[in-house]
Amino acid sequence: MSETDRSRLSHKIRYATRNPRRIPPYARRLARDAWLRLKTRDHVSYYRAVMKSDATKSPERAVGSKSHDRWLALGKMQFDYLVGHGLEPRDRMLEIGCGNLRAGWRFIDYLDTGGYYGLDISPDILIAAQETIKEHGLQAKMPHLTPVRDLRFAFLPDGAFTVAHAHSVFSHSPIGVIEECFSHIGRVLAPGGFFDFTFDRTEGAEHHVLREDFYYRTETLIGLADKHGLAAQFMADWEELRHKQSKIRVTHGG
Ligand SMILES: C[S@@+](CC[C@H](N)C(=O)[O-])C[C@H]1O[C@@H](n2cnc3c(N)ncnc32)[C@H](O)[C@@H]1O
Repeated sequence: MSETDRSRLSHKIRYATRNPRRIPPYARRLARDAWLRLKTRDHVSYYRAVMKSDATKSPERAVGSKSHDRWLALGKMQFDYLVGHGLEPRDRMLEIGCGNLRAGWRFIDYLDTGGYYGLDISPDILIAAQETIKEHGLQAKMPHLTPVRDLRFAFLPDGAFTVAHAHSVFSHSPIGVIEECFSHIGRVLAPGGFFDFTFDRTEGAEHHVLREDFYYRTETLIGLADKHGLAAQFMADWEELRHKQSKIRVTHGG
């Protein structure tokens, strides 16, 4: 959590003075992102292009892990947390923004055959996800991996999932994308099901950096969930794991 507004020029100058070696990669990212924004018509197309560019170099880096060890550890953290919260092999899980299955391969291994359904806007990262399934010998678990253009879940049946999960997805999403998800997730969640997501939390002004990283106040997301008939709860025990993002759990309201 932070109160820093990373989009402010004063923050950027202070940060650059303290971290001069980060200036060239930041400048490259700035130029790349400006070019991709010019070429694309909406946020999802833009972020899909960001993922294409990143996944071509390294799928593990594209999902935010600087090394294979970090990739494994971050996936384990997500998996252990959900199992600690009662995830069972018979659950049916929807993973929104599944990436290259950093946590997904563990869920696939644990859940009964066919119990895992991963969605992502990036075909490139889904190809990398297929590699992960092969590397971990999980073909027989028959996981579903599907590219999507939006978060309406129109092709999925009512009440299909007991658990939905989105790790480090809303941290890259403008509020319209999150609201689209909130307005449709209730339909595909089974009675008693829950949806966990992480977000970059700020206690200051909400802002974004390069339209890649978005910072929200907890009450904004809880209020938005409520508007769509969902009950939202801040997960304080996730904070104990000292991950840089925070977590909210959403269930059917009332
Ligand atoms: C930082 S990665 C995290 C991947 C995975 N959840 C994990 O923890 O390894 C974010 C993923 O979300 C996907 N993504 C971003 N916006 C999305 C959206 N609106 N709908 C579905 N996937 C999205 C990206 O393509 C990327 O694969």
